[in-house]
Amino acid sequence: MCGIVGYIGQPRRAEEIVDILSLLEYRGYDSAGISGINDDGCKIIKEVGSISNLRKKIPQQWSVTNAIAHTRWATHGASTLQNAHPHQSLDKKWIIVHNGIIENYKELCSRISACANISPNSRGGGTDTQILIEYIANKNIDTFEDFVKLFQDIKGSYAIICQNTQKPNELYIAKKNSPLYIASDKDNNIFLASDPVCFSKYTNVYKTFNDNEFAHIHDQKIFIVDSELRPIIKESSKLKDDFVEQTKLDYAHFMLKEIYEQPDALRRQVDFYKEQKILSKFNSDFLSRFNQIKLVGCGTAYHACMIGVKYIENILSIPASAEIASEFVYNTNVFEPKRTLYIFVSQSGETADTIKALNIQKEKGATCIALTNVAYSTLSQQADYCLPICAGPEVSVASTKAYTCQLSALYLFANALKTNEDLEKAYNNIVELSTKLFDFNIETADKIAEYISSKRDAVFIGKNFDFVTAREGALKIKEITYVNANACPSGELKHGYLAIVEEGTPLVVVATDEELNSKVFNSSSEAVARGAVEIVISTDDHECKYLIKLKKINPLLMPMLSIVPIQYIAYKASILKGINPDKPRNLAKSVTVE
Ligand code: G6P
Repeated sequence: MCGIVGYIGQPRRAEEIVDILSLLEYRGYDSAGISGINDDGCKIIKEVGSISNLRKKIPQQWSVTNAIAHTRWATHGASTLQNAHPHQSLDKKWIIVHNGIIENYKELCSRISACANISPNSRGGGTDTQILIEYIANKNIDTFEDFVKLFQDIKGSYAIICQNTQKPNELYIAKKNSPLYIASDKDNNIFLASDPVCFSKYTNVYKTFNDNEFAHIHDQKIFIVDSELRPIIKESSKLKDDFVEQTKLDYAHFMLKEIYEQPDALRRQVDFYKEQKILSKFNSDFLSRFNQIKLVGCGTAYHACMIGVKYIENILSIPASAEIASEFVYNTNVFEPKRTLYIFVSQSGETADTIKALNIQKEKGATCIALTNVAYSTLSQQADYCLPICAGPEVSVASTKAYTCQLSALYLFANALKTNEDLEKAYNNIVELSTKLFDFNIETADKIAEYISSKRDAVFIGKNFDFVTAREGALKIKEITYVNANACPSGELKHGYLAIVEEGTPLVVVATDEELNSKVFNSSSEAVARGAVEIVISTDDHECKYLIKLKKINPLLMPMLSIVPIQYIAYKASILKGINPDKPRNLAKSVTVE
């Protein structure tokens, strides 16, 4: 995962480079560092933990003309200062920031003499990046051409920016399977980053590196080549304005802001889809090309896939299935791949497993749609079609508004494939739904948060749509409160999960379907008989300690409504436990490694 930044140009305060880096914190916050060059030479500063820790160590007067910076999500090697980037070669010549994983780092290590000090088996425990920079140093590279050729030896994924301390006006860049963008402002200052949102303060025009491309920046000129050293001329793209804003406004955390943005986000999506005729190509003729639909994603996006399956089967009566991307890559036996429509769901559009799954299916000739929140993302670029979700930037690690927008996009999509009339009704339904999202008792939700935050475990149950909401709710609780929350279909409670229940265990019961509620409550009463405390989110009255009563609405729309109180409860419980819900431990917003 990780995020990288590069700069070369007029003297600029190092603090400003750190500001740019902070826009990448969603990619990891285990440690951060910067290497800056000016007339006095080169200085590297690193710190463990979030970028705010690094910021405290940056001298105010430190100005740089060449800088590389990194925010880390630890993959190889613990989250220590020693493992923080940038890494410098032992001969002090090369400095690197790297996002990705060098798969053959052990083999590279065995080929170099400096290995004894940095070997992954040594006490210091060299990381893949430390070994790579040592490998580069050991190859005695003189020219950019040598640098490019050296990558024939490197296996894995990488977005890399290298400084050479003997060439302070230059940067060397390599990219494969990890995103990297480049831009220059009106004064010809050059910026590089893992996300073009980083450039927004300086310019909204940027260029995207493709895989196996390399760049040499020298004397404020950008020279891009492929692996055969053939020059490449690149088209520029423009950043959309709504990706620029990333402030909490008056909210204590991004997560709370994002929860409350959901009504606006849903309406914005409807307006955008109508104005831009986003769904016009997805009609019954389009559908007739396929005999099944598969939805693929990870984490919250996978839960959106599970709901999407139900939309497709209910609205279109065509077989559909939801697949976890990291597992689906091993499913080699898809029946009639060319008659299969794939929808890859991903907030970021950068999740490595989802991208890999897409590439495998594309090779088989399948039709692929990317449903993402980031129009310029890798997934969007590689798919045949894009369905934007218009949630606006989602910063908090736990996904909230992206989830409801994913559900609404899938609901609109399924209706579009049916008839125009159904689509028009669906638009109206979403707009009406958006006015109801916060029609629940906040005081009760606060009390539930207090109760859950005091417990070690929690069990979530539901049936059909409500089971998916239970899963997504349990994930929210787990991610940002560290309470061991598990979800199961209520019918499965007796097949194992009941063993977790003891006196006081919170049992979150999602029961919003009139036809199924009595069955769900039958199951929950078995848990109550064993000491569980019921927390019920339901359209029905139910005698229990905590009840969040929801209005009855169209069952297909309910998953967008019933998840909101749980998102809010998770947020509040996280605060009560003293956790920063925007940056929970061990997680990252964008998971760009397999
Ligand atoms: C991480 C995030 C989750 C997200 C998942 C998939 O685990 O913390 O919030 O659901 O990745 O991310 P994607 O960007 O593909 O939706």
